[in-house]
Amino acid sequence: MSQAVDPSAPILLFDSGVGGLSVLAELRKQLPQAPVIYAADNAGLPYGDKTEAQIAARVSGLLGRMTERFHPRLVCIACNTASTIALGMVREVLEVPIVGTVPAIKPAAAMTRTGTIGLLGTEATIRQGYVDRLEHEFAQGKRLLRAAAPALVAAAEARLRGEPVDPQVYAAAADALRMQPGGEAIDTVVLACTHFPLVEPELAQAFGPGVRFVHGAEGIARRIAFLTQGQEFQRLRPDLALFTRDGEESARLADSLKTYGLLRIEIL
Ligand code: DGL
Repeated sequence: MSQAVDPSAPILLFDSGVGGLSVLAELRKQLPQAPVIYAADNAGLPYGDKTEAQIAARVSGLLGRMTERFHPRLVCIACNTASTIALGMVREVLEVPIVGTVPAIKPAAAMTRTGTIGLLGTEATIRQGYVDRLEHEFAQGKRLLRAAAPALVAAAEARLRGEPVDPQVYAAAADALRMQPGGEAIDTVVLACTHFPLVEPELAQAFGPGVRFVHGAEGIARRIAFLTQGQEFQRLRPDLALFTRDGEESARLADSLKTYGLLRIEIL
């Protein structure tokens, strides 16, 4: 496989919005030379309040179009909501290697000292059987408390557009876990949405000392580096940010996108 890959073929990262940039930041550390397309389905944002059928249709349809057009060497679904719902289906229809984003319950279970783990995700993610299976497999004997925090998705988007965010949003997310029975014992919080590491400092302040956060970005980047081992990389043009809808929001993200090395913007 390694010889056949075009050195300029990009790695395509996909999310509903800017969340996947938390994965891109880790990927840049491990594979700075890799050409990247960062795709945000801003026309479908947020995914968290959509049905499984809507999300599966959007993700597989868009990734089909994008892989036909851009011929990526690998696709990373840098979104927990899309991965927990549509990863299997996308793998069946696309021939390109696909890396998904799975809530980091396994490392959280290894880290917790109190045995109580919090998980923040979107509404769609926290109800997935995929999460039940991870809990069953990796968090036996631990308590896993889940809360949906859709306002954090909007907060991360606003932050990257340079807009102010009401700190109450972060306090409310912390309360949604802590107010549950047994929630005061939480010492480890899984950020099960790729948007959330983008507001980790604010969340850390809201939770206070003694709580650690865990997410999958570094492990995902490692997996991508492993799967592309031995391949050549050549960046012929500046990396691209691709949106599904034109509008002011994407233009207002341009400065933040530049800090992630995304110097061009296009609409699909
Ligand atoms: N970033 C996405 C995730 O990891 C979801 C945000 C949304 O569209 O609701 O789940």
